[in-house]
Amino acid sequence: MLNRAYTQFSFFLFLCFCLPSFSSSIPHPCRKDQSATLLKFKRTLSVDPSVSEDCDEYGKERYPKTSSWNMSRDCCSWDGVICDEMTGHVIDLDLGCSQLVGTIDSNSSLFQLSHLQRLNLSYNGFYGSHISPKFGRFSSLTHLDLSNSSFTGLYGIIPESIFHLPNLETLDLSYNDQLSGSFPKTKWNSSASLMKLDLSFVTFSGNLPEYLSNFTRIEDLNLKRNFLNGSIPSSMLSLPSLRKVVLSGNYFSGQLEDFKSNSLVWIDLRNNQLQGQVPKSIQNLENLTTLDLSFDNFSGNVDISLFSNLKHLWYLSLSYNNISLINEKEVEFTLPESLERLELAACEVTKIEFLRSAKQLEELDLSNNKLQGRVPDWAWSNRMFSLKSLILSHNMLTSIDSIPLQSVEIIDLRSNLLQGSLPNPGNSTRLFFISQNNLIGEIPLSICNLRLLKVLDLARNNLTGEIPECLGDIIHLEVLDMHRNNLSGSLPATFITESSLRSFNLHDNKLKGKIPQSLANCKELQVVDLGDNQLNDTFPMWSGALPKLQVLILRSNKLHGSIRTSRIGNMFPKLRIIDLSYNAFSGILPVSLFQHLKAMRTIDQTKKLPAYLGDRYYHDSITIATKGLKLELVRILTIYTTIDLSSNKFEGHIPHIMGDFIALRVLNLSHNALEGHIPPSLGSLSVVESFDLSFNQLSGEIPQQLASLTSLAFLNLSYNHLRGCIPQGAQFSTFEKYSYGGNDGLRGFPVSKGCGNGVSETNYTESAVDDEESNSEFWSDFWKAALMGYGSGLCIGLSIIYFMISTGNPKWLARIIEALEYMIMVRQRKKQGRKGNYRRRNNHF
Ligand SMILES: *[C@@H]1O[C@H](CO)[C@@H](O)[C@H](O)[C@H]1NC(C)=O
Ligand SMILES: *[C@@H]1O[C@H](CO)[C@@H](O)[C@H](O)[C@H]1NC(C)=O
Ligand SMILES: *[C@@H]1O[C@H](CO)[C@@H](O)[C@H](O)[C@H]1NC(C)=O
Ligand SMILES: *[C@@H]1O[C@H](CO)[C@@H](O)[C@H](O)[C@H]1NC(C)=O
Ligand SMILES: *[C@@H]1O[C@H](CO)[C@@H](O)[C@H](O)[C@H]1NC(C)=O
Ligand SMILES: *[C@@H]1O[C@H](CO)[C@@H](O)[C@H](O)[C@H]1NC(C)=O
Ligand SMILES: *[C@@H]1O[C@H](CO)[C@@H](O)[C@H](O)[C@H]1NC(C)=O
Ligand SMILES: *[C@@H]1O[C@H](CO)[C@@H](O)[C@H](O)[C@H]1NC(C)=O
Ligand SMILES: *[C@@H]1O[C@H](CO)[C@@H](O)[C@H](O)[C@H]1NC(C)=O
Ligand SMILES: *[C@@H]1O[C@H](CO)[C@@H](O)[C@H](O)[C@H]1NC(C)=O
Ligand SMILES: *[C@@H]1O[C@H](CO)[C@@H](O)[C@H](O)[C@H]1NC(C)=O
Ligand SMILES: *[C@@H]1O[C@H](CO)[C@@H](O)[C@H](O)[C@H]1NC(C)=O
Repeated sequence: MLNRAYTQFSFFLFLCFCLPSFSSSIPHPCRKDQSATLLKFKRTLSVDPSVSEDCDEYGKERYPKTSSWNMSRDCCSWDGVICDEMTGHVIDLDLGCSQLVGTIDSNSSLFQLSHLQRLNLSYNGFYGSHISPKFGRFSSLTHLDLSNSSFTGLYGIIPESIFHLPNLETLDLSYNDQLSGSFPKTKWNSSASLMKLDLSFVTFSGNLPEYLSNFTRIEDLNLKRNFLNGSIPSSMLSLPSLRKVVLSGNYFSGQLEDFKSNSLVWIDLRNNQLQGQVPKSIQNLENLTTLDLSFDNFSGNVDISLFSNLKHLWYLSLSYNNISLINEKEVEFTLPESLERLELAACEVTKIEFLRSAKQLEELDLSNNKLQGRVPDWAWSNRMFSLKSLILSHNMLTSIDSIPLQSVEIIDLRSNLLQGSLPNPGNSTRLFFISQNNLIGEIPLSICNLRLLKVLDLARNNLTGEIPECLGDIIHLEVLDMHRNNLSGSLPATFITESSLRSFNLHDNKLKGKIPQSLANCKELQVVDLGDNQLNDTFPMWSGALPKLQVLILRSNKLHGSIRTSRIGNMFPKLRIIDLSYNAFSGILPVSLFQHLKAMRTIDQTKKLPAYLGDRYYHDSITIATKGLKLELVRILTIYTTIDLSSNKFEGHIPHIMGDFIALRVLNLSHNALEGHIPPSLGSLSVVESFDLSFNQLSGEIPQQLASLTSLAFLNLSYNHLRGCIPQGAQFSTFEKYSYGGNDGLRGFPVSKGCGNGVSETNYTESAVDDEESNSEFWSDFWKAALMGYGSGLCIGLSIIYFMISTGNPKWLARIIEALEYMIMVRQRKKQGRKGNYRRRNNHF
């Protein structure tokens, strides 16, 4: 009995003395309820190795943490799980980058882990999950990271309860673009504890609340790319701990108040609608490293002295506002030496003395300013070994003798008044733009020392002589653009098989001879534009084997012969634009070619937004003709699809197979010797906007099927031998009589009464219409069509708008393009089932 009591007592002693130290040396005790809850949670999710791929890109480790969760080990040692040492409750659950897919609804066992302090579910695929209000019940939570669970990921409204978690220090819901919400209107309980708030790339709207002033501890505030509007409360610029504030890509407006948070290190207000003066208080922000006020509506003079004392400033951007940069006390004030990136596009800059001391500059953008004359020598001399990117486009510079920059990679001197011969840039140049100047003389052979060249844009100058042969063997060269010069001789004969050439544009020169077969080595080619030259060759059949070729323009040369391609294989799989007009091609229309052209046979319904050919540095531009207008498209929409075989010597019938090209926007077969009937199959070209069969020998009636072409904005069937009734219906009632002139016997609206439908009583006589008038109508119609986002002509209309605004302020260009992209998207959603035509709609305006 005593013995037993003793045993019990010593066991008790053992427990008292040994357990505490024991518990810190063995794995943390796992509570059964916690492991059961975790396993239950695991069961509601599955692992998909294709999820969380972004993590690799951002250098984060990606693996399925829940795979280690099983009863053979203590739950507190499972990957991503940390328990409280004393109580055994799970306090930290880190499942970031764990390749999880599934939904987390209000029922989820996750919410039974009520002691959580840190919860990280970022970079997973919680498709279709709402953020449950129950996230607001984790009353101990200090860190909540639900970022980047996007693609169809998380959606719905962010429950206000999350903002009331009383101990929250970090809240990151970024990159969930289906997630909407607004800030609490009344009390915000987290305000006193929050240190980091990241709501970038979600869909927040409304205003920033005034009481932000309660955020006494906040250091890092990121609300980039939302729909927030109203003014930026002055209290926010006075928060005592604020270091980083990113509000770019919203709709904030009004004046910007003075900055009183002198702790600020990083300010990004880019791309809002802020007005008024740039606040002078910027000069007090002694630790400021980054200031981006670009793409706003700031106005007035900004003196360089505002920045000259900011000793840590390395990035400054004031581009595209309405400000004038001035330097009243020229000698005393220059920009700080620490500066590495400077963007002052469109700031009315006339002189650049203030750059003298910025000796570490790596990127300089002074485009769209008023720089005149010669580029001063000192501009180079100080920074021969630091400058990597030099952008001086759209100024009035007249001379540049040499570019002695050893480290420069990007040089952009587009659209100046540069005279003389082509300057020679440093050997490390990758992107060299000097188009739209007045350069003369030959292209020096030394250009071939630039072995790293990726883009060479010499277009729109007056360069003469031959194209250096060696350009065909620069491995990295992706873009070779020399259109609109005076180059003569023949094309380079040798292109190497390793070539990266993507875009090859020599439009409008005086080039002679043949199209080199070795271009077939350039498997990356997307755009070949050799139009408006004097090339004398047959159709380059081999180009059909270029797997990525989208644009082939050979218009206005001396090309001849009939076009026959092999029927087998997969030729021209991506071709969307083919322009062979104004040549001497003969024979029947190339049916064998038409049997390929896969890209013209499908309309990609999955694409929401239109894309353009090119990349962020270089947009392909081409010259196309529609309705006798020659237009330069400064951007090529990837939905733009055209066949132009006009002004050749093609004969025979129009093959019915052309009705398969359902993606076609422009079809021009005019000025040939085509005969026979118009195939009814062409009624399938449901998105065709411009349709020209004029000046042929076509006979028979106009097929009734054409009346169903609801996108048609331009039609020309004139000067054939057509007869019978003009089909009536949707778009056809909008064309004028010139569309039908010069035929044998067409009747009905608009050329005559008759055909029994009495659409119009107007008495027309056949006569040529005033070209100018119809052209202006054409233009205004496209404008309206494109701007309204309705009706036909949209694709061409957009392209024209790009052309028209390309010379304007790039800020507006960017915004208009954004708006148009949106409109296209809206239009495509509306498109199904719409039968109206925009001319009628336009009557309302
Ligand atoms: C349990 O997880 C461990 C890794 O933590 C693993 O080695 C073991 O195979 C798993 N056991 C079962 C039955 O899944
Ligand atoms: C969440 O996990 C991701 C991926 O591991 C990590 O990058 C991120 O910093 C974590 N978030 C927090 C708040 O710790
Ligand atoms: C909760 O779970 C029950 C059954 O487990 C289910 O019927 C219900 O739809 C769930 N509720 C939600 C909001 O998912
Ligand atoms: C988040 O994911 C998207 C794609 O899902 C990606 O584009 C984006 O860069 C990611 N953002 C971050 C910060 O990882
Ligand atoms: C905010 O916190 C107070 C106590 O600090 C609490 O009474 C109140 O319910 C909280 N509000 C919300 C919306 O959670
Ligand atoms: C701001 O903080 C004060 C004092 O802590 C508090 O009384 C007030 O309710 C808070 N306001 C909001 C909107 O949270
Ligand atoms: C802010 O946007 C909302 C719609 O989200 C609108 O109702 C409100 O008028 C806008 N406020 C300002 C100041 O622009
Ligand atoms: C600037 O940074 C230094 C060093 O981190 C710090 O001591 C100083 O307080 C900061 N200045 C302000 C105004 O926050
Ligand atoms: C550029 O390269 C050429 C040939 O490789 C060489 O002769 C020349 O010295 C180089 N120029 C500079 C400035 O490095
Ligand atoms: C181009 O240069 C030639 C002489 O090389 C000159 O005759 C011609 O007028 C120039 N063209 C333009 C448009 O300046
Ligand atoms: C094309 O070249 C051939 C000789 O190769 C010549 O006979 C012919 O006249 C040329 N055609 C034109 C239009 O210059
Ligand atoms: C149509 O015009 C012709 C010649 O201009 C005229 O002779 C004829 O009477 C007109 N017919 C009608 C119905 O107005």
